[in-house]
Amino acid sequence: MPSPIDPVTLDLWHVIAATDEVPQGLVETTMLLGQKLALTRDAAGNPVVWRRTDEEQGDEIDPAEITERLPVRTGYGYTWTSLGTPPAELFPIPEYSEPDRVNMSCGSIGIHVSAPRAVENFLDMGHFPYVHTDILGSEPHTEVKEYDVEVSEERDEVLATRCRFFQPRAALSATEGIEVEYVYRVPHPFCSVLYKSCPEDESRRDVIGIFLQPVTEESCRAHLLQSMIDSTSTITDLRRFQQTIFGQDKPILENQFPKRLPLDPRAETPIRADKSAIAYRRWLSQKGITYGTIPVAG
Ligand SMILES: [Fe+2]
Repeated sequence: MPSPIDPVTLDLWHVIAATDEVPQGLVETTMLLGQKLALTRDAAGNPVVWRRTDEEQGDEIDPAEITERLPVRTGYGYTWTSLGTPPAELFPIPEYSEPDRVNMSCGSIGIHVSAPRAVENFLDMGHFPYVHTDILGSEPHTEVKEYDVEVSEERDEVLATRCRFFQPRAALSATEGIEVEYVYRVPHPFCSVLYKSCPEDESRRDVIGIFLQPVTEESCRAHLLQSMIDSTSTITDLRRFQQTIFGQDKPILENQFPKRLPLDPRAETPIRADKSAIAYRRWLSQKGITYGTIPVAG
C-alpha cells in the first residue's frame, strides 16, 4: 500500500534527472514519491514530464502529444518536477552562474535508504577518516571541532558554518593535506550544498551539491553537482573523484537502520558532531515533512 505523502513534500520541486541525459523524442522512466513518471525532451531541448500509466508502452514519443504535463524547471544541470503546487523558483546557488566555474553533474546513484538519511550523512564530518580514508580524512585527525549551526528563517534553510577538518586530499587539485573549512547549507528538505576551501584559490570556495530524489520512503537517487574552481583537471577526472567518494558512502548509507530518519532528537544518541543533524531533524519536523522519516510521536 502506498504511504501518504505529506503536503509539504508534495509541493516541493524534486530532482529527477540530469537534463543532458534525457533523450529527445525518446521516453525515459523514473519514480518519484512512489509514482511512476515518464520524461523526454522536445525538439528545443526542454524537458517534458508526465505520470506514466501502466497502459503506456513504447520508447518513442512525440512530446507535442503529451497534454497532461507535470510542472518542470531546469536548474543546476538537472530537471525538476513536482506532484503538487511548487513555488515559483528553485532554491538559489548563486555561485553556479560565475563564469569561470566548471559546473558538472556527477552522476545519479540509486541508494536503498531514505532521502533524509542521505542528507544527514552528507552533513556529517565524523565519518571522513573512517569512510573516506586518506582522501577526506585520516587518523589520528578524527576530531570534529566545534562549529556553528543556525536555521535561517529568512532563507528557510539550515546553515552550518566554521566546520573545520584536516583532509589529506581535500579535492582533486589538492597537493598536500590541509585543514579545510566547510559551510553546509540545507536549502531544501532533500538537498544540501556544501562550500569548501578551494586549493587553487584561497579566496573562493568549491561548491558541491547533493540533490536527493525521494523514490519511495526508503529509497532515493542521489544526483551530484560540482561547481569548481579548477583550471587544470579534466571534467572526467573531477567526476571520477566525486564518484569515488560517493561510492564509499553508498554501502554505509545502505546499512543504516532504520532506513527512514527518526525525527525525535532522542531516538539516536546525540554527540557534538551531530549538531547539524539535530538542527536538520528539528527543521524537518517544524516544516511538517514526514516523507522518508519516522515523525516524533504525539
Ligand atoms: Fe561521505
